[in-house]
Amino acid sequence: MAPHPRKIIIDTDPGQDDAVAILLALASPELDVLGITTVAGNVPLALTARNARVVCELAGRPDVPVFAGCDAPMQRPLVTAEHVHGKTGLDGIDLPAPKMPLQDIHAVEFLVETLRAEPAGAVTLCPLGPLTNIATALARAPDIAPKIAEIVLMGGAYFEVGNITPAAEFNIFVDPEAADIVFRSGINLVVVPLDVTHKALTTRPRVEAFRTLGTPVGHAVAGWTDFFERFDMAKYGSQGAPLHDPCVIAYLLDPGLFTGRHVNVMIETRGAFTTGMTVADWWRVSGREPNAMFLGDVEAEGFYRLLTDRIGRL
Ligand code: RIB
Ligand code: CA
Repeated sequence: MAPHPRKIIIDTDPGQDDAVAILLALASPELDVLGITTVAGNVPLALTARNARVVCELAGRPDVPVFAGCDAPMQRPLVTAEHVHGKTGLDGIDLPAPKMPLQDIHAVEFLVETLRAEPAGAVTLCPLGPLTNIATALARAPDIAPKIAEIVLMGGAYFEVGNITPAAEFNIFVDPEAADIVFRSGINLVVVPLDVTHKALTTRPRVEAFRTLGTPVGHAVAGWTDFFERFDMAKYGSQGAPLHDPCVIAYLLDPGLFTGRHVNVMIETRGAFTTGMTVADWWRVSGREPNAMFLGDVEAEGFYRLLTDRIGRL
């Protein structure tokens, strides 16, 4: 008897890599995507809310409810990343404007209402962008915490250092106060940092494997990746770019592809040069209680095999 699909909510700021993560989730019968909540991050909210629906329609899934969430961080002005993702956030291939509507209620209301209606430990949250929606929901309705089985998020960096400042990774940097709420929540956390995603680099064969699927989805993923990687290749001088967000979904599907350590991770919110840093106590010297499984490595070939196989199913 096949196990019940795992209930997840994807919180996202598409972004080409977010888009690939959403496709991977929708292509995987092991997962039941209860909804997609969008947040301002890579590009402003109006675009992330649009892009999430573009991706659902590309996957043939206009039935998936998409919600617009917070349009700015909890206490700071929004910082976006058009320099990486392009003006639309999904540069790299032109796709039609979405026909499916946005849901009427705010993403935070959806998170709270959905979690309140579920039994304890029923839902996994998969944040792929700044943690503003998640933290706002937890602050507004602390009673939802026991309903969350775990939060598997893309964010942070330790040995790999930052990508938006020398110390901070973008998702955490955009809303460090939100990240601080999530990391202090006591909810089971799995952190997929740059330490992992920078080992999941695209390469020409890997991108061509998407293109030779010969499907509209494969063509879109190849086009997005071609666009998305130009910035990182120029910046790092690497032969490819990190496909960050799909690593979160791949972890749900095959955690054995990843390794990490259960350690204490705190968020710097006051540093002159280090705000947004995930201070991972990798060597356990702080005496602070471990609060997160902080991943450190991924089996890249296995990750791309899984990703390409699943994308090929759409
Ligand atoms: O730093 C990488 C993260 O920031 C990814 O989630 C990417 O989509 C951007 O949101
Ligand atoms: Ca993202």
